[in-house]
Amino acid sequence: MGRATALAFAAAGADVVAADIAVEGEGIVDEIVVAGARGAFVRTDVSQSDDVQAAVAVALEKFGGLHCAVNAAAIENETTFLADCEESRFDQLFAVNVKSIFLCLKYQMRAMLAGEAGGAIVNIASTNSFRPRPKQSVYTATKHAVVGMTKTAAMEYAGEGIRINAIAPGAIDTPMLRGAMAARGSKEQDVVAKLSLDRPPRHAGGDRRGGTLVVLPRSVLHGRARPCCRRRVPGSLRNVQL
Ligand SMILES: NC(=O)c1ccc[n+]([C@@H]2O[C@H](COP(=O)([O-])OP(=O)(O)OC[C@H]3O[C@@H](n4cnc5c(N)ncnc54)[C@H](O)[C@@H]3O)[C@@H](O)[C@H]2O)c1
Repeated sequence: MGRATALAFAAAGADVVAADIAVEGEGIVDEIVVAGARGAFVRTDVSQSDDVQAAVAVALEKFGGLHCAVNAAAIENETTFLADCEESRFDQLFAVNVKSIFLCLKYQMRAMLAGEAGGAIVNIASTNSFRPRPKQSVYTATKHAVVGMTKTAAMEYAGEGIRINAIAPGAIDTPMLRGAMAARGSKEQDVVAKLSLDRPPRHAGGDRRGGTLVVLPRSVLHGRARPCCRRRVPGSLRNVQL
């Protein structure tokens, strides 16, 4: 989703700094250029403060400022009920899914405040932010935390012209979902059979869904966590449910 979002921003004319722990992400720079924008890749572990600061610094030094940020990196590698979950897995999930949001918000907002033009930040939460899933107690807790931090930061910085929101996808066909399916031994046809596409998509004031970019209008949304599930997403991303 981070890759698709980066390309959507590039197609909209934004210069994009892509940050990911996987060095293969570097290939996205060529795609950003093809989309008509300038791009940079910074190998980043979002759970590490120095890495996050370095990625933000590239936006400032190379492109002259930071105006929008989407925090999409996360892991979902939990396969047991809570009593069998290793403490090390808890620590890893909270480091990558929650500490990362804290670090990204902290340094992205500092850059936006210094720029004096405000900005917009979108954190990727999950439908797990609102409802529990068996064998996902820690992942679910991390995604609840993302919403709590988003709402609090949104209140704190509304007066500074920085809008902070979260979107909460349902299951989307990405490497994360494929990994979860493999870890649980789920078959693709069983997952697709559980699709809930019969309900009409929910609409909110002016936000555009159905693509990979969710536009959160300045006048309407602030400090919200928007569910965006049960909707087929065109292109390479499909909306499916475990
Ligand atoms: N795919 C789904 O069904 C689904 C559903 C709800 C919410 N989400 C959320 O959407 C977001 C995007 O998920 P996705 O499905 O695109 O996942 P994905 O696994 O396809 O992509 C996640 C990216 O994060 C990167 N990453 C992992 N650990 C990192 C770290 N420490 N530092 C920097 N980068 C790191 C990975 O290299 C990968 O490129 C996540 O926050 C996820 O929790 C996904």
